[in-house]
Amino acid sequence: MSPLTHKSGSVKQGKLLPLAENEYITNRALHALIVRGYGASVKRWEDAAQKCLTIDDLRVLMERRVHSMVGDYYHGGASDETTMRENIEAFQKERFLPHSGVSFPEVDMATEFLGHPLSMPVIAGPVGFLRTLWPRGEEAAAAASGKAGIPYTLSSFSLTRLEDVKAATSAPCIFQLYKPLGNAAAEQALERAQAAGYMAIELTIDTPVAGNRLRDKRNSSTELMNGTFLQRARHAPKMLPYLHWVAGFYADGGQKMVKFPNILTADGQPMPYADVAALLKSSAITWEDLEWIRKIWKGRILVKGVQSPWDAQRAIECGVDAMVVSNHGGRQLDRALPGLEVLKLLAPMVKGTRVDILMDGGIRSGADVVIALIYGATAVKVGRPQVYGVGAAGEVGVDRAYEILREEIEHTMRLLGCQSIKSLDSSYVRTQRI
Ligand SMILES: Cc1cc2nc3c(=O)[nH]c(=O)nc-3n(C[C@H](O)[C@H](O)[C@H](O)COP(=O)(O)O)c2cc1C
Repeated sequence: MSPLTHKSGSVKQGKLLPLAENEYITNRALHALIVRGYGASVKRWEDAAQKCLTIDDLRVLMERRVHSMVGDYYHGGASDETTMRENIEAFQKERFLPHSGVSFPEVDMATEFLGHPLSMPVIAGPVGFLRTLWPRGEEAAAAASGKAGIPYTLSSFSLTRLEDVKAATSAPCIFQLYKPLGNAAAEQALERAQAAGYMAIELTIDTPVAGNRLRDKRNSSTELMNGTFLQRARHAPKMLPYLHWVAGFYADGGQKMVKFPNILTADGQPMPYADVAALLKSSAITWEDLEWIRKIWKGRILVKGVQSPWDAQRAIECGVDAMVVSNHGGRQLDRALPGLEVLKLLAPMVKGTRVDILMDGGIRSGADVVIALIYGATAVKVGRPQVYGVGAAGEVGVDRAYEILREEIEHTMRLLGCQSIKSLDSSYVRTQRI
């Protein structure tokens, strides 16, 4: 594993960050103690992650390391969480029809997306706030994508500069765009992403307002990130069994680190932690935005959050390069159709056009990836599998998540009797009740 370095230092193996980033910790000795304590116990979590056999094992490990008050933001969905659950159930209802009596030395799972080679048909999707789970969480996840040979998508709501994330990885990078401070701030982000060498942007269109995330409202998790000293102190006893997370959070800058360096205010400062839901409401991305975005952004464009034939038609007419069938992991409109069902509806519409179709929502195993490809996806994007890896053991945890998916895809392909992912078709699944 390559050490996660950064121009302002590393917290990975107990090295100190320069105090400029941690000026609120006035006592250097206390800071050193926190960083060293954190560094000393990193290996325990990394070893445990390496023993995980499934993506769900990584979820369980993350739940041991991170209190649910923090973890629920990542685990949870909107309203009754019906869509979140059904995203997973839709895959589990599928049944394979193997072509038996077939053997081959190698499984070919390489493919390409927008001219970039992928070592397997998986792309890391955008996930905000990863850095609050593990020090330098976004760089850790991006570095793991690079080693796995798959692209990485950085969320607008990341807590690390997009330039630093790009520098931390060999993966082709995509920048996911929200515009909570309006067009001018978004233009700046696009220009920076272009200069830093991002290969594409991803416009998330399913977020005219934030979903009704009841878990977050019930456990007042914002008090931990942005509360007063007294509010945070009230939650301190609950955090005692999660000291590794606590030490990591403070070693990485604590509350001061929770701001958005890829969304700059008019005076060039990172947008402070804020009620993101209210900001999104005043400035959602619409199809009309494509016009001004194209004047600035010269690279490829993905539209994420396509959920109906109407959306797919619009994406094709607008000439985007790829659409991502997505209900945001069940975090936006509850009772939206599961991602796999939408893929089945839309893949035939997109076939034969120049638009690539990706999907996300509910991918938790290599078998799920194979099913999505059978129904026409070029590749899948993953949200929570990445979250569980970062939350369990940072970069090593995400490395393990991708290893698990790769092994499971290969195993499924061998048992299906299909040598290449490009040969997957509907003959490998039950399409109607037999
Ligand atoms: C904690 C969390 C934060 C997310 N943040 C973003 C984001 O900032 N932008 C975005 O377009 N999608 C975001 N998503 C949605 C993911 O990109 C993706 O659509 C979803 O997680 C896929 O479902 P899965 O988690 O079942 O893989 C987020 C998802 C999670 C779980």
